[in-house]
Amino acid sequence: MVTSDWHLDMMDDDKKDGSKFNPDIIDEIIETVETEKVDLFLFGGDLATETETFFNGLKLMARIPCRKLFIAGNNCMKSLQTNDLPHYSGELQARMRYYDIQLLDQAPLVLNGIGFVGNCGWYDGTFWWPENTAVCLDEMKERAQKYFGLDLGRNGFRHNLTYEQFFAMSWRKLLNDLKLVHDLGAKRVVLGIHHVPSRDFLEQKPGDESWTQINFCMGSIKYQELFARPDVVLGLVGHTHRPDIHLVGGTPVVNISYSEDVPYRVFDVKA
Ligand SMILES: [Fe+2]
Repeated sequence: MVTSDWHLDMMDDDKKDGSKFNPDIIDEIIETVETEKVDLFLFGGDLATETETFFNGLKLMARIPCRKLFIAGNNCMKSLQTNDLPHYSGELQARMRYYDIQLLDQAPLVLNGIGFVGNCGWYDGTFWWPENTAVCLDEMKERAQKYFGLDLGRNGFRHNLTYEQFFAMSWRKLLNDLKLVHDLGAKRVVLGIHHVPSRDFLEQKPGDESWTQINFCMGSIKYQELFARPDVVLGLVGHTHRPDIHLVGGTPVVNISYSEDVPYRVFDVKA
């Protein structure tokens, strides 16, 4: 079972699009896990930005009666108290261990011969969309770097980290973990990245500069290479709050963002 982007602390005003999380759905999730004998619950990022609210979300998830995996979202980074980027996973995993939830960003999993690999991912500028904007690439990169810092608050600007460097680190970690689950015998892999791998997942608003800038920060076309690997049988993404499914290099990649209409999805992955 998969879902993401609950954004538990988003204000009502910010969530007029049917994606405001309804906590009552937890009872339905628990019932579905029990009746359909679900092995695994995977959350694809952006639980909450406030630390306390983040813990409340983990408490909700802890009630789900099966093994639980978690992928960090960009908004989860804002909840960090002691860690900062790029080393965010230790603090998040420490919180989750208490609730018996595994952070995939920190370590992948092989279960019943299936590998589960994932992390937050990031953006790298390959979603540059010149036909939609009058802004030049250098200016857009500068804005994206500013957004990287502002959006992450106190956790973003430390160590003079650039968004491109953080992307490269997340990328290398995914490569390492794909190799690791292969070495551990997984022939088939479920790959989850909070950010998206193609413009197919984005809504275009030509001439809307702020929208083009937000789209610039939604992911990277480089991720297509990972989803296209023959061992990757299912791709999961979030972040854009649109329930799209697209084939990426022949692999179905599903946006699992929570919405009223599709609060979660259940897949049967054969080893
Ligand atoms: Fe996000």
